[in-house]
Amino acid sequence: MTAESVAVDLEVLRYRPGEGSRLENFSVQVAKGTKVLDALDAIWATLDHSLMFRRACHHSSCGACAMRINGRERLACVTQVAEAAEEHQPIRVEPLHNLPVVGDLVVDVAGFFARMTASDLVITRSAEPELPVSVDPLPASLSLRQVVVPEDLDRFIRFESCIECGICVSVCPSMAADDGFLGPAALAGIHRTREATGDATESAHLLALADGDGGVWRCHSSFECTASCPQAVDPAGRIMSLRGQILARRWGRMWGR
Ligand code: SF4
Ligand code: FES
Repeated sequence: MTAESVAVDLEVLRYRPGEGSRLENFSVQVAKGTKVLDALDAIWATLDHSLMFRRACHHSSCGACAMRINGRERLACVTQVAEAAEEHQPIRVEPLHNLPVVGDLVVDVAGFFARMTASDLVITRSAEPELPVSVDPLPASLSLRQVVVPEDLDRFIRFESCIECGICVSVCPSMAADDGFLGPAALAGIHRTREATGDATESAHLLALADGDGGVWRCHSSFECTASCPQAVDPAGRIMSLRGQILARRWGRMWGR
């Protein structure tokens, strides 16, 4: 390692089915300014090939590296080692809560995605409006094609900002106590899909789902999900908004609207 490297101490929760769980300490050298995920990569590469953790993009886009770092749900790929080490020595790394642990830091996300499916949240490219970007013919004087960006580009910013990391599920006290709850991500998805759809039948169906068993009324309004979401999806705010829409619909029905 170079002079720019630092020693990092981590305490990692190890688990295998049938063997129970234990904390294991590791010390690795990592480059200055590195992230917790890089430290886990270094453990895997230099000390222990059996360490189980999940990652893909390394830049907070895929949600795969969500875990508890010093008792707080975060994306390991954007959590600075220096910051985490200042909070707690050694840095404690554990799997998400409220999802079954497969091994070490890997949780089973099947239940999470089943909830997303149950809430009819299917994101497809065709669900997005078509972006009318035109590419001009290449002028002889230019080496690059000129892209004409529409003035109302904001309209086309992707409505699907949730990266399906599961952090909101891990922090949610209602999820911890209630297996039948759809959960913050799925309900935020229902809210978002209602915003995007122009189909009245689908919109009514989604609102009925939000109002049904497992829906918004099971939320304890702790707002932990909103405070922890790395993508500012604001699941709790969306759940409150859905409650308002449900009450408005009931009120409207009472008055025959
Ligand atoms: S709503 Fe936020 S915390 Fe929940 S899964 Fe999506 S990105 Fe993660
Ligand atoms: S590795 Fe993709 S979000 Fe961290």
